[in-house]
Amino acid sequence: MTKTLLIVGHSSGIGRAAAERALNAGWNVIGWSRRPSGLISSGLSEFLVDVLQDGSGFPELPSALDGVLYAPGSINLKPFRGLKISDFQGDFELSALGAVRVLQASEKSLKAAPGSSVVLFSTVAVQTGMPFHASVAMAKGAVEGLTRSLAAEWAPSVRVNALAPSLTDTPLAARLLGSDERRQAGADRHPLKSLGRPEDLASTALFLLSDEARWITGQVWGVDGGMGALRTQG
Ligand SMILES: NC(=O)c1ccc[n+]([C@@H]2O[C@H](COP(=O)([O-])OP(=O)(O)OC[C@H]3O[C@@H](n4cnc5c(N)ncnc54)[C@H](OP(=O)(O)O)[C@@H]3O)[C@@H](O)[C@H]2O)c1
Repeated sequence: MTKTLLIVGHSSGIGRAAAERALNAGWNVIGWSRRPSGLISSGLSEFLVDVLQDGSGFPELPSALDGVLYAPGSINLKPFRGLKISDFQGDFELSALGAVRVLQASEKSLKAAPGSSVVLFSTVAVQTGMPFHASVAMAKGAVEGLTRSLAAEWAPSVRVNALAPSLTDTPLAARLLGSDERRQAGADRHPLKSLGRPEDLASTALFLLSDEARWITGQVWGVDGGMGALRTQG
């Protein structure tokens, strides 16, 4: 049966890769981003939406929705003393409260579709402490709490899971990957010695949104080249 998926953040990076993959699989995709994606497919309905705005202005959703993927997030890395309160508020707004607004707007439609599913985004830096990550790790820690709380509250009708990527080659990470040396150093930090590709995350997200994952909920999965769980030296 054709599924209908809402992808928030379908214009770039992991969300865009997930949209392409879902469309290729014959799913219908509703894409919400602030910019158009440039994707062309009869299965795509695209809307310009800013999730920082009040959810009452969101486009109307279909009465039944099989899945929601919420991708907006930040990589705001600064020493703790350089972080302003507005940095913490901005990261929390985008990663956590934006997801809350979208999920409150989609709850009824998700509950109307049997076997529906949500995928949110955390970061490896919640599980593994890393310097300069205080703001983003706090915001994404909230996303992990939301994932488990909603998974409990919405069981058995809606499954809720999150992915925790490490450094992935998307426009969001471009500043960290601006030279061959930086890319190589970024890859070498991972036990699997490579950067993440948007497709690595998109394929896992699509699996979690599919019926094949029907018995998986409340999980935060590291898709991180081994970064979150392994030490390969000493
Ligand atoms: N890339 C990494 O290394 C990495 C590492 C750890 C965690 N993550 C997490 O993985 C997720 C996906 O990251 P990514 O690298 O794919 O990011 P990305 O390339 O920046 O894509 C983010 C998407 O979210 C949309 N978006 C951003 N702000 C929005 C807003 N206010 N309203 C509506 N849409 C908005 C963007 O579209 P518009 O700009 O068109 O609105 C874009 O489509 C994020 O939550 C990120 O924190 C990424």
